[in-house]
Amino acid sequence: MIDFKLISQSGAARAGVFDTLHGQIETPVFMPVGTLATVKALSPEELKAAGAQIILGNTYHLYLRPGCDIVGRFAGLHRFMHWDRPILTDSGGFQVFSLAKLRKLTEAGYAFQSHIDGSRHMLSPEKSIEVQICLNSDIIMCLDQCLEHPASHEQAVAALELTTRWAARCKTFWREQTECRNSLFGIVQGGMFADLRQRSAEAIAEIGFPGYAIGGLSVGEPKDLMMEMAAHTLPLLPADRPRYIMGVGTPEDLVELVALGADMFDCVMPTRNARNGQMFTDRGTINICNARFRDDEGPVDPSCDCYTCRHYSLAYLRHLYTAREILAYRLNSIHNVHYYVNLVNSMREAILAGTFDQFRKAFYTKREG
Ligand code: GUN
Ligand code: ZN
Repeated sequence: MIDFKLISQSGAARAGVFDTLHGQIETPVFMPVGTLATVKALSPEELKAAGAQIILGNTYHLYLRPGCDIVGRFAGLHRFMHWDRPILTDSGGFQVFSLAKLRKLTEAGYAFQSHIDGSRHMLSPEKSIEVQICLNSDIIMCLDQCLEHPASHEQAVAALELTTRWAARCKTFWREQTECRNSLFGIVQGGMFADLRQRSAEAIAEIGFPGYAIGGLSVGEPKDLMMEMAAHTLPLLPADRPRYIMGVGTPEDLVELVALGADMFDCVMPTRNARNGQMFTDRGTINICNARFRDDEGPVDPSCDCYTCRHYSLAYLRHLYTAREILAYRLNSIHNVHYYVNLVNSMREAILAGTFDQFRKAFYTKREG
């Protein structure tokens, strides 16, 4: 099954379409994060109005709570959470690594204790795929080992080799269980070492997947090192498959990564920062608490046509946020998700029009102006 089609290229930047069980995704695409089967503060209708094509869920969290027995009764996440567009789930490796207590890593998988109630669990590559199939995600991810930064070359070798062996196990299990219905993506690791990124990319591509992700970025390394690793790894991935950069990043990161040939992104920034009062605009980020907005009758971003910008002033949003009103989180999140979705949509249009370079220049000019 060939589910990805490249439609247009502008330099290394790509526009494509990806077919899933719940419809087509146009790339480049930004996926709002809905860890617990909800994109915090937003209803599915609001997500759609903001233009979201696909959202991300987390295997680690949903396996622990509410659990597969519950989501399985609804035949998966879509009906459980009333979202009928595509869903991608992360495998849980990254979340065990950052959240679980007393985790122990072996060839078999992660033995860990729940951060919620201390209960003991085993997340193997097969178990991760089994849970993601039960969640009926459109795109499922291989279980991988993500490293902290900094890590030694030796640690990075061990992690990428384990990630490769697990990727092969995930693929075998996925083929047996799903006949390849839900798309399985492989994940490239390799720490901050160019030689290991290459080794990992080659090994994961050799196993062969419908799509490829680059993991282990934005784990505390300097920005230029993150970009260097992405720039080095992206061209090594098969050109006829989607390329997903996991857990990145700022609007600038997205522009630069699309320029380097990335197709898919997820990040908590638009939603998390919205709840902290930080709003993304064409002219850069602003903090809604700033006293200069006290009497500002204008919208967050005059060039934005989201629900929040069409109806509410900076002065009102500042008031809501200062008073800690629930509506503040909702309206801020609506704008920020719309901003991110609109940013990648604009990049897609520019790629299709062959004007991506101009788009990129204009993006920075607006921020300086
Ligand atoms: N999310 C952000 N980075 C990573 C990663 O390296 N692996 C996985 N599975 N998820 C991620
Ligand atoms: Zn807006």
